[in-house]
Amino acid sequence: MTVGIDKISFFVPPYYIDMTDLAHARDVDPNKFHIGIGQDQMAVNPASQDIITFAANAAEKILTDEDKQAINMVIVGTESSIDESKASAVVLHRLMGIQPFARSFEIKEACYGATAGLMLAKNHIQQNPDKKVLVIAADIAKYGLNSGGEPTQGAGAVAMLISSNPKILVLNDDNVSLTQDIYDFWRPTNHAYPIVDGPLSNETYIASFGKVWQEYVRRTGKTFNDFAALTFHIPYTKMGKKALLAQISELPEEEQNRLLARYEESIVYSRRIGNLYTGSLYLGLVSLLENSTFLNAGDQIGLFSYGSGAVAEFFTGELAAGYQEQLNPSYHQQLLADRSQLTISEYETMFSETLDIDKDQSFNDATPFSIRGINNTIRTYKEN
Ligand code: HMG
Repeated sequence: MTVGIDKISFFVPPYYIDMTDLAHARDVDPNKFHIGIGQDQMAVNPASQDIITFAANAAEKILTDEDKQAINMVIVGTESSIDESKASAVVLHRLMGIQPFARSFEIKEACYGATAGLMLAKNHIQQNPDKKVLVIAADIAKYGLNSGGEPTQGAGAVAMLISSNPKILVLNDDNVSLTQDIYDFWRPTNHAYPIVDGPLSNETYIASFGKVWQEYVRRTGKTFNDFAALTFHIPYTKMGKKALLAQISELPEEEQNRLLARYEESIVYSRRIGNLYTGSLYLGLVSLLENSTFLNAGDQIGLFSYGSGAVAEFFTGELAAGYQEQLNPSYHQQLLADRSQLTISEYETMFSETLDIDKDQSFNDATPFSIRGINNTIRTYKEN
């Protein structure tokens, strides 16, 4: 029996800004954002959308009634939690109409949370092959207006259904994990924005990939040649490329070009969305599978997960027969195309409109799942 990703889809809020506009507003050369950082557009969310609405909109796209009966675990990986006690997964479980005898909970470790969820789901399905697990990666990446991290913001969710005999990616049992107690990016309780040591975060990311990759090679004897593609956590699209380049510089040029071409296919969506935090790696996976014409069933894919603080993991999977039929590129492209572009002034206004949970209010948002209002500190949701 195999276990892995049976279905996958993402959702992003219906607004974005163009990075050239942001560069002009911040008096920066646009090439710094487009080339230096590698971002063309950035997703922006209104106050009427949160991690639960992103998650519900992403999950609704992949779940059938049969799935909802078979799911007995709902895991949300996030660092944008809306409650210190109650898990967003519990609300999501209701919004999705999943059968009641299920475990629902949230996992946190910066951008690594959903990978922890995915591995837990895999173990659970190995013990319960007739069940399914819904794993969600949902976040709002906000660093603040005019901050150093501003061009690396974003928002949205990736939903994955984990099952036995999966139709997209069979997960192998060769993970290499790494924990290092460092402060490269952290957000103390009650702080609206993270505190970031940008250079340390970049260095640690690059070094962490080197460490888990080298350990993987030592344990398995495999090389880059064993992989059709590698996909990375993408805080901004230049980041994964830097980590990859640091490891492949000794390879023949043809081999380097092959891996870099696949990397470019994995960042097509991220260039237009920005950082999804814990969803970024999985957005990269969807992008790779939907935008590459060089992959085939049976190919091995390497995945590098990184969460500041810091936990990193390299793990691998094999593309399932007919995986292309399980994807939805036209929906994802339309989702991006249908978004409205904001001026920088509109973005700054939307950015500053945060939810006051202590004030009763209502919203009128046309997005299928969105916040209907706040009532006595409880968010109520418009359902599909
Ligand atoms: P910065 O100081 O604004 O930018 O910080 P910079 O001066 O380092 O320049 C960035 C790149 O643009 C450089 O390229 C410049 O040369 C280039 P590099 O040397 O790195 O290859 N550049 C230009 N290129 C072309 N034309 C030009 C031009 N000007 C400059 N005219 C930084 C950038 C990413 C550090 C900042 O935005 C930041 O702090 N972001 C947030 C932290 C982050 O994303 N870190 C990534 C690793 S940590 C991680 O992935 C975890 C995370 O997702 C959180 C979690 O786990 O929860 C963040």
